[in-house]
Amino acid sequence: MKTIIVYYSLGGFTKKIAQKLASKTGADLLRLTPVRDYPDTGAKKFLIGGRAAMAGAKPKLQHYTFNAEKYDRVVIGTPVWASSPTPPIRTFIDENREALEGRQFAAFFTQLGNGADKANKKLAKCLGLERIEPETVFFEPNKKDPHKENEAKLGDFAAVLRR
Ligand SMILES: Cc1cc2nc3c(=O)[nH]c(=O)nc-3n(C[C@H](O)[C@H](O)[C@H](O)COP(=O)(O)O)c2cc1C
Repeated sequence: MKTIIVYYSLGGFTKKIAQKLASKTGADLLRLTPVRDYPDTGAKKFLIGGRAAMAGAKPKLQHYTFNAEKYDRVVIGTPVWASSPTPPIRTFIDENREALEGRQFAAFFTQLGNGADKANKKLAKCLGLERIEPETVFFEPNKKDPHKENEAKLGDFAAVLRR
């Protein structure tokens, strides 16, 4: 099954996961970048991105090429922002709504604490679905917890996608 991983990453963790998943599955990769990206430091980081995510914003994206016909399945990779998918993902779905019809979907979420479950439901709603499955959640490592289980989760999710 020909698969593409379409993702957004502000701080680089989702990018790292997407790249590892692509190398384990042979999937193509498409990174979405807003024309004006969100602040990635300071108080504004959570305020501006969080507000945009809650409002369901759809920022203009830098040029990208996506030929849906080449793919049977689209894996969406997104950080959780205020228990929501990130705005660039909403833009992508909106811009490719017709082309995405008939594709299978999967998703992975990255987060620090919680919200992925709600983010999945919101993402699914954008696609006219109840829930995106298969899905998995990766916790961003921090000083207290390196989240070593991420490697095993990557392997498990890649195996599901290879089926
Ligand atoms: C605007 C904003 C809102 C966030 N909201 C949440 C949240 O609701 N729950 C959570 O667990 N993490 C939240 N995070 C943390 C990110 O989901 C987490 O750091 C993720 O791994 C970032 O991925 P990236 O490095 O690819 O950007 C938020 C981060 C930002 C910038």
